[in-house]
Amino acid sequence: MSDSHPVTRMFKLDDKVCIVTGSTRGIGKAVATAFAHQGAKVVISSRKPEECRSVAAEINAAVERDAAISISANISSKDDLHNLVSRTVALLGRVDVLVCNAASNPAYGAMAQVTDAQFQKLFEANILSTHRLIQLVSAHMMEQKSGSVIVMSSIGGQRGSTLIGAYNVTKAADVQIVRNMAQELGPHGIRVNAISPGLIKTDFARPLWDTPELADKFRRGSALGRIGEPSDIAGAAVFLAADESSFVTGHNLVVDGGVTIIGD
Ligand SMILES: NC(=O)c1ccc[n+]([C@@H]2O[C@H](COP(=O)([O-])OP(=O)(O)OC[C@H]3O[C@@H](n4cnc5c(N)ncnc54)[C@H](OP(=O)(O)O)[C@@H]3O)[C@@H](O)[C@H]2O)c1
Repeated sequence: MSDSHPVTRMFKLDDKVCIVTGSTRGIGKAVATAFAHQGAKVVISSRKPEECRSVAAEINAAVERDAAISISANISSKDDLHNLVSRTVALLGRVDVLVCNAASNPAYGAMAQVTDAQFQKLFEANILSTHRLIQLVSAHMMEQKSGSVIVMSSIGGQRGSTLIGAYNVTKAADVQIVRNMAQELGPHGIRVNAISPGLIKTDFARPLWDTPELADKFRRGSALGRIGEPSDIAGAAVFLAADESSFVTGHNLVVDGGVTIIGD
């Protein structure tokens, strides 16, 4: 990058092809929308084809170009993930950025009550899907000798919990996948990083922020004294997708308003 580049040109994603799973609402939608505003071509994906089409159309209207296409996929289905990647390559020619964002949490409450079926569902949706997707896209990224993979983990993966413990196990595992794959894929020019959000106001986390006592506890436990919005995560994702983060890999970028740094 030349010093003559104005700062406003930084973090451009011009023509980068980006798959964002779970991008019809919440954090994924904010990330996909930000990518499109930075010049990327984005693949909008979730389980519901109609919602995917609608969000793609909304993004295209906002950026006034054909930036988004929709390919529905259930992340727990190996066939769907295969179709998601192969159709992306067929329609857009390549994959530059993968954001493994969609996840499930079928088990609120004590670990003592978590059933085998719930744990298996968590494993398939939150761990195996990340592994499968990275395997699928890295084959294309290796040919291109470039790529950026971003895995949406959680600060829950760094802490104990009596509310969402089993889910937190999967979010910790995602960060280990990131370390392993950053090491394995680095020689091929592929970067792999995680983002660990704190509590963000989305449907997924509604039981945590929609309960006044819990919301107060979360606010008081953060340096910034507030609960995050999906757009708070989008900038971190743009940074990790863009060439300006070209020397950052295997990293877990905590974006939590200062929850995990609180000491006393
Ligand atoms: N919100 C938080 O406080 C928070 C904090 C830390 C980490 N995170 C992480 O951030 C990520 C996004 O969460 P969010 O809060 O933005 O959730 P959200 O608002 O509920 O959005 C979830 C998205 O994923 C899709 N999705 C859900 N299950 C899916 C499946 N099996 N296959 C494909 N798509 C699926 C949903 O669409 P459909 O239901 O229509 O398929 C939707 O587009 C997750 O990995 C979560 O663990 C969230």
